[in-house]
Amino acid sequence: MFKMMVEIPGYSYPIIFERGIGSRLGSETKKIFRGQNIALVTDENVARIYGREIRESLEGQGFTVNIIAVPPGEKSKSLSVLEYLYNSLLDAGTRRDSLIIAFGGGVVGDLGGFAAATLMRGIPLVQIPTTLLAQIDSSIGGKVAVDLPRGKNLVGAFYQPKAVYIDFNFLNTLEKRFLRDGLGEVVKYAAIRDRKLFDYLLDCSGEECVDFEKVIPHCCFIKKEIVVEDEKDRGERMLLNFGHTLGHALEKYFHYEKFTHGEAVAVGMYVFTESSELMGWTKKGTAVLLKRLLDKFFLPSSLPIVKVDRIVEIIKEDKKNFDTGINTVLLEEPGKAYIKNISFQNLDLIYSLLSGQLVEGKG
Ligand SMILES: NC(=O)c1ccc[n+]([C@@H]2O[C@H](COP(=O)([O-])OP(=O)(O)OC[C@H]3O[C@@H](n4cnc5c(N)ncnc54)[C@H](O)[C@@H]3O)[C@@H](O)[C@H]2O)c1
Ligand SMILES: [Zn+2]
Repeated sequence: MFKMMVEIPGYSYPIIFERGIGSRLGSETKKIFRGQNIALVTDENVARIYGREIRESLEGQGFTVNIIAVPPGEKSKSLSVLEYLYNSLLDAGTRRDSLIIAFGGGVVGDLGGFAAATLMRGIPLVQIPTTLLAQIDSSIGGKVAVDLPRGKNLVGAFYQPKAVYIDFNFLNTLEKRFLRDGLGEVVKYAAIRDRKLFDYLLDCSGEECVDFEKVIPHCCFIKKEIVVEDEKDRGERMLLNFGHTLGHALEKYFHYEKFTHGEAVAVGMYVFTESSELMGWTKKGTAVLLKRLLDKFFLPSSLPIVKVDRIVEIIKEDKKNFDTGINTVLLEEPGKAYIKNISFQNLDLIYSLLSGQLVEGKG
């Protein structure tokens, strides 16, 4: 067992890393929750694999448990599924002295977390992330949200859980594509903050040789440090958006169907790094190393055929951007990132650098 405390002003909570902690969830929950009623928010895939075990573990400790499973996938991070969830939670007798456990990938963490943040102005929350991406990223930092048709995460809150439990065993049932998806974010942490992790990954032959018991806590530590420094996402935390400006735009452009989040971020990291190297804003040779890393985990790096104008339009609509340009995260070199404001004029330049080979047509 390994415990890491997240300390933000006025509040602290543990991230507990332990193989098999999922099957002992009842006794763990007993340590932090004195109430009776637990609502377990999950998705149908996760419920099918783990629902029974988790229910037995919690009921074994005398809790009343209601499992609410939403359809898997990003489409569940919607206002209509949120409304269904609020109603199901109320039907299950959820009150302010209940506990909501968000048990699943990032979709469940964001949706269940947002429901916990807002139902009756806040119900205590525990996060149990079951994908690699959720274990190293979405379950930490307290951001919870749902999407609107016009963009991702547009309705959200900052809501810290009582605890986060990370069980490496959950990764055993994860589809390879989703493991690689999470590796996209692992590469991001290495690229923005940690040259040693970057070199360690370069030495790996593929995902089989990554020691997740070491890498997951390591990534959580990086995220936690950045989040603690900047809880409300104004400065340092922006570094975590490396690859996300273009990544989010690509996800949206393809209606969340072509790329997983981590794949879109992989393309975003590489395309911006390649361009910024050409602009002289990143040390030469960085993009090649980044690509080598992404290739190892079968993550995409080149921009697919897209209408660049439309991509730029989507980027301009992004809530993180301003009228004059975007604050984007670039690499100085592997392991070091910085924030650069790029005017929209220059942004067009970045795209035109790539347009010869990649653009289908304008407009
Ligand atoms: N809040 C944040 O700070 C933050 C950060 C990064 C990403 N996110 C959000 O996270 C979401 C993506 O999360 P995700 O990649 O975990 O996707 P996801 O939640 O859709 O999970 C991916 C797939 O894996 C399945 N699954 C989950 N755990 C499993 C397990 N142990 N075994 C077998 N199958 C399992 C799910 O049913 C789903 O089909 C996006 O909505 C993104 O916006 C949020
Ligand atoms: Zn991300």
